[in-house]
Amino acid sequence: MVSAAPTVLLTGACGYIGSHTWVALAQAGYRVLGVDDFSNSSPAVLTRLQRLTGQAPAFKQANVCNAAALETVFSGQRIDAVVHFAALKAVGESTAQPLAYYANNLGGLLTTCRVMQAHGCRRLVFSSSATVYGAPQHLPIAEDAPLSATNPYGQTKLVGETILQDLARADAAWRHVSLRYFNPVGAHESGLIGEEPRGTPNNLMPYVAQVAAGLRPYLQIFGNDYPTPDGTGVRDYLHVVDLAQGHVAALCHLLDGGDTLTVNLGTGRGSSVLEVVNAYAKASGREIPCHIAPRRPGDVAACWADASRAGEVLGWRAQRGLGEMCGDSWRWQITRDHRADTQNQSAVLFTGR
Ligand code: UFG
Repeated sequence: MVSAAPTVLLTGACGYIGSHTWVALAQAGYRVLGVDDFSNSSPAVLTRLQRLTGQAPAFKQANVCNAAALETVFSGQRIDAVVHFAALKAVGESTAQPLAYYANNLGGLLTTCRVMQAHGCRRLVFSSSATVYGAPQHLPIAEDAPLSATNPYGQTKLVGETILQDLARADAAWRHVSLRYFNPVGAHESGLIGEEPRGTPNNLMPYVAQVAAGLRPYLQIFGNDYPTPDGTGVRDYLHVVDLAQGHVAALCHLLDGGDTLTVNLGTGRGSSVLEVVNAYAKASGREIPCHIAPRRPGDVAACWADASRAGEVLGWRAQRGLGEMCGDSWRWQITRDHRADTQNQSAVLFTGR
């Protein structure tokens, strides 16, 4: 007997990582359902997902803190697993608005798990972050490194992981994979989906993209006196399409009956701010004017992953290098303002009841 394709619900499905994971899962043969409240994404993403997957997206606009709305997604159809992306993610904002971060990130996780439990769905992939390592003592950072949080955003990821561990201890039927992302960058090679920062970008690569495009006059390099080879901060940048494939691997693991896991997703290689700037200038053919500025409070000098567990347990390895990350980011940057699809929402089939 041929079994039906597993059905996977993505929360935060239209966001940066959610949308790339949607495409990767659809290409891998999964049936994908999405929910998103568009608080940090746009309905236009659905039209682009339709173009990329060749299917009308099955989607419901909902906030994950709204149990009744999630109930309507689960009732009447079997959902085999959930990938929980929906969360607020700006470190600085979390310090100014801790209640919003705790309410959204932990409230959303709890509500999602409760509705899942009520419907007998106990397979979850959780978007965690390398932020849970705080200021790392040793590099590369392995999953058993000490954990700490330096801001409310990081705290929500640490507590989120703890909630899931407690759930797994209380009920052996619950299995989850916490994926600790390093620095996701880049965009889909089509130029159709990518990161859409609202206002001033907080992160390096989207800021560099806007400088290259002439939308901002220069990049501020936050510190050039770190104990790193060129004095600028070093991070483990990871192509978002590789990251999306990591979610496919984690789901495959869970749906094959695999155990609960915590896994780093990174390349295992660090790049400095100056290396990113140089790679971006090469990929875009544009100059990137830079000014040296003081260190940004809370930044660590260097952070990169020991990515060996993901290779050993999930069979996942990042495939794309810094040049490809910059090239795909640039393609997205230069094409995003020229698309006509924002007026074409009716093409998408909304299936939420
Ligand atoms: N940087 C600049 N100028 C900028 C922006 C960043 O010089 O305008 C530098 C930073 O100082 C740092 C590097 O570029 O050295 C990377 O900064 P990002 O803000 O892109 O990334 P972070 O590593 O600081 O933060 C990311 C995520 C967080 C997550 C953290 C740890 O944005 O959500 O990784 O995993 F918590």
